[in-house]
Amino acid sequence: MRDLQGKTVAITGAADGIGRALALELAGRGCRLALADIDTEKLAAIAEAVRARGAEVHEQRLDVAERDQVEAFAQGAIGHFGAVQVVINNAGVALSTNVEAMSWESFEWLMGINFWGVAYGTRAFLPHLIAQPEAHIVNISSIFGIIAPPNQSAYCAAKFAVRGFTEALRHEMALEHPQVNVSCVHPGGIATQIAAKARVEGPGANQRRSEMIERFRAMAITTPDEAARVIVAGILKDAPRILIGKDARRIDVIQRLMPGTYWKLVGRNLGRPAK
Ligand SMILES: NC(=O)c1ccc[n+]([C@@H]2O[C@H](COP(=O)([O-])OP(=O)(O)OC[C@H]3O[C@@H](n4cnc5c(N)ncnc54)[C@H](O)[C@@H]3O)[C@@H](O)[C@H]2O)c1
Repeated sequence: MRDLQGKTVAITGAADGIGRALALELAGRGCRLALADIDTEKLAAIAEAVRARGAEVHEQRLDVAERDQVEAFAQGAIGHFGAVQVVINNAGVALSTNVEAMSWESFEWLMGINFWGVAYGTRAFLPHLIAQPEAHIVNISSIFGIIAPPNQSAYCAAKFAVRGFTEALRHEMALEHPQVNVSCVHPGGIATQIAAKARVEGPGANQRRSEMIERFRAMAITTPDEAARVIVAGILKDAPRILIGKDARRIDVIQRLMPGTYWKLVGRNLGRPAK
């Protein structure tokens, strides 16, 4: 997609972090916006902020883990604007625990949002996007959709799954509907509140929570605004794979050079040496 002016973009998880920055960036580029989030207060605030920039906005509360609600969001957005050209499946949460201590409830909660939310969002909009002269689907994975640190099994399971789902979709669209582009996004550390809001389980959860927040602060080297600009640049280039931050680009290379042993090097660099 070479020009975003006048296009309608639907974003999940738009009330905070990367989603919020995307809404502001896209409003500045003349897009119309369908914004959704589970946090209605923050959603109202971002809707107001982008309206103040002159963008036409439709906002809708949704829990992306609920298929009916995601389908209602797609219908709401399409009904309001008549057409949607870009969908960004961005909503996500974090969970820190080892496999042994992880509760099924938290495992399912995370998969519901980070994987099923993306699958529901993709399928809810897909028939409509296929009918557009030009369209783009952006699914947010993570650098943890490329490497798998300890205590991130559920998050990695979801983000690796988003990558597999999105790459297969991209290859289907290339064959059958080449006017629909598909990007998978792998951010490195982005300075948002995701770690502060994370669920932490297992032995020493309280101490691990503060360590995790501290570690995240040190490694989150890219601002949400910069992340949004990189994603938008990727959409404008029809980039199949969008890595955000020099940390993500470096880790991606290390994973390819050391597919079985990358954690020895990456873990040491992140201050978490493998024993
Ligand atoms: N921040 C990072 O370092 C980083 C790195 C890699 C990938 N990501 C991914 O980027 C995406 C955005 O994360 P962020 O860092 O901006 O987080 P964030 O916490 O700042 O924003 C996430 C947004 O999603 C919303 N949300 C959470 N659960 C929801 C649900 N069930 N239904 C609808 N909305 C819901 C939240 O209310 C929030 O507004 C996520 O998919 C995350 O996994 C983030």
